[in-house]
Amino acid sequence: MQRRKIIAGIVLILLVTVVAPASQEASLEQKLASLEKIGRKFSFVVLGDNRAGDPTCDAVYAKLIASALERKPDFLINTGDQIDKPGNLTNWKRFKELSRDVSVPYFLTVGNHDVHVEVAGSEEAYMDQADLPGKEIYYSFVAGNSLFLVLDSYIKGEDKRITGEQFAWLQMVLSTSREKHKFVVVHHPLFPEKGKGKHHGNSLDRYPAERDLLHGLFKQYGVEYVFMGHEHLYLRKTIDGIAYIITGGGGAPLYADDRNGGFHHYLLMTVDGDNVTGEVVDVNGKARDRF
Ligand SMILES: [Fe+2]
Repeated sequence: MQRRKIIAGIVLILLVTVVAPASQEASLEQKLASLEKIGRKFSFVVLGDNRAGDPTCDAVYAKLIASALERKPDFLINTGDQIDKPGNLTNWKRFKELSRDVSVPYFLTVGNHDVHVEVAGSEEAYMDQADLPGKEIYYSFVAGNSLFLVLDSYIKGEDKRITGEQFAWLQMVLSTSREKHKFVVVHHPLFPEKGKGKHHGNSLDRYPAERDLLHGLFKQYGVEYVFMGHEHLYLRKTIDGIAYIITGGGGAPLYADDRNGGFHHYLLMTVDGDNVTGEVVDVNGKARDRF
């Protein structure tokens, strides 16, 4: 009898061990721990300005997400404006529905459509709805040999600037980092271009002295790529060896014609040891740029 009980106990333990992980989604902490141990080659998708909750935007975003997941990225990054109306919980619900097939980590960035200084409760809603590492609105994470820094360019009283405590934190993380590659994500572009988009002079370039300090910090610590959104288009340029890429074509109405980057798209980035490459894929699955 005793022996039968022991065998039944062992069978039960085995069943629980096998069944439990499949039925419970891994927590963000577990996903982050697995990213740190990722191999020398990995890939990630970057897109932004999808503005969930607007049906026209949602149709595009759904197509982009489906296409992006076919490439089997290890994680995704959104450059901000994940939802249409700041603080709107129905929009957040829609964003999660549209992103339900994303089982890998999905890192979000604050945009002015997610949190708005004039919309009470929008920041609380963001903190509640977004699955943020350390529950911090700006944060860092490591994937293999690479450091990622996700910034908040919309802090009350500091909007369109990276300054104060956040700048000090950024400096500290960059100066103590040992990772080979460094990537930064921030919603407002540092160097938007006049005639391409709608926010030239009213992004991080609104405060050129502080923008230049930020660029100087990136240069000093070897940041290679900066991903931004806010302008609904694709624009890549290199300044002092740093690739500044605006990828705001995740679904919202476009701000340029097709020839000037006005197409819906996502970026597929691949890190392979010392090398980093990127491919820009439009909503029809066509490669539009490679670097
Ligand atoms: Fe924006």
